[in-house]
Amino acid sequence: MSSLLIKNATVVTSADQYSADIYVEGEKIHTIGKNLAVKADKTIDASGCYVIPGGIDAHTHMELPFMGTHSSDDFETGTRAGLFGGTTTIIDFAIQTQGKSMGEALAHWHEKAKGKAVGDYAFHMAVTDFNENTRPEVKDLVQKHGITSFKIFMAYKGALMIDDRQTIELMEEVKKYGGMVITHAENGDVVDHLIAENRAKGNKEPKYHVLSRPAVVEAEASGRIIDIAHQGKHPLYIVHMTCEEALDRVREATKRNQKVFVETCVQYLLLDESVYFQEGFEGAKYVMSPPLRKKKDQDALWAAIDQNLVHTVATDHCPFCMDQKRMGIDDFSRIPNGAPGVEHRMELMFSEGVLKDKISLQKFVDVTSTAPAKIFGLFPRKGTIAVGSDADLVILDPKQTHTLSAKTHNMNCDYSAYEGWKVTGKVKTTILRGTVAIDQGKALINKGFGQYLSRESSGKK
Ligand code: URP
Ligand code: ZN
Ligand code: ZN
Repeated sequence: MSSLLIKNATVVTSADQYSADIYVEGEKIHTIGKNLAVKADKTIDASGCYVIPGGIDAHTHMELPFMGTHSSDDFETGTRAGLFGGTTTIIDFAIQTQGKSMGEALAHWHEKAKGKAVGDYAFHMAVTDFNENTRPEVKDLVQKHGITSFKIFMAYKGALMIDDRQTIELMEEVKKYGGMVITHAENGDVVDHLIAENRAKGNKEPKYHVLSRPAVVEAEASGRIIDIAHQGKHPLYIVHMTCEEALDRVREATKRNQKVFVETCVQYLLLDESVYFQEGFEGAKYVMSPPLRKKKDQDALWAAIDQNLVHTVATDHCPFCMDQKRMGIDDFSRIPNGAPGVEHRMELMFSEGVLKDKISLQKFVDVTSTAPAKIFGLFPRKGTIAVGSDADLVILDPKQTHTLSAKTHNMNCDYSAYEGWKVTGKVKTTILRGTVAIDQGKALINKGFGQYLSRESSGKK
């Protein structure tokens, strides 16, 4: 069994910060202590750096078939890019095709990932057709396949959306087996109406994407799903929340003692809707759903992280290259929805969040790793630095500066949503299950290293 010793680390977890050495045997953390007198096959000096748990991005879409094309990162390029930025685990979405079974979707996503993923991965199941034939699949998905989170879309009518009746019945079924429903909250009917209205007026440019998906449609759907979960006492996680109006619905729910898990994504904290109003087709780079919002929404989201109202920060990584985005050059509603992000979530949250005093170091670790691990049943194997946990460790140099660019990033996408951004704090080394995966900008492990993570529950307190 190989061994690794990390010396002089400043260990940061979601609860602690202290100086120690970390000794790793095989894939697991074996000992944590001061001045460990132990010989290892490999020693890394982490002086001057933070050592944090490997990041967990609970919301990615690798090789997603969507809007007539596929997202441009597959499990190899996407998980490798994640590792460069300190994300060691992703939770991707296996998406059921309407009229087909969830089992088929799962088999298909396993095919995409197996032998290809460089980093570790788990799956949520996106349920797009819930009926008497697919209902019995839930038990097996949880108990045999380790899928404990089931996503529903309240938008994308005709492709992914299900109705409230299907949602209630899915929630009941999922709860029986210790799982949780997670939700894309936008009112799909109102969105479709606004899109049709804009198209009828000949409005073509990317800015009509945001104008067809105002905050109120997200707030309405968030409030509705929160109420639906409340009436049946079901756990609930809302993905990619973007705005103050939706957060207010969560805040309201806390007054009746309801707990709702909330995810936002790094782009909603850092970018705003002004990008849609640029000249030409530039705004297409940021066409995603829900869209970017206003500056006041960014402030509300940062505050909500601090107030424990937002629990996780993911990316909704769903990149499309510019020639794919150009499918919507004459019709904003045909621009594939999604943007790249998996590589830079950790560094951006450190640089813009911790160094700009918006969140503490511990909160940074919590929202990027520990909380997603706990919510989705990966803790304590993942999401912390503790004896017996997987040795998924990130050595972060807090002083090193660098500039983000499509020219240098590792994601398979020909633009960066953060082109030219100067970031302070760089991932120097990423360790995945005791093996050095990335060191000084070089990938040292290959496709197929990533393992599937089976889970037992989701949404537990
Ligand atoms: O624009 C987005 N978010 N694309 C990916 C699909 C989804 O809604 O999560
Ligand atoms: Zn979504
Ligand atoms: Zn998504």
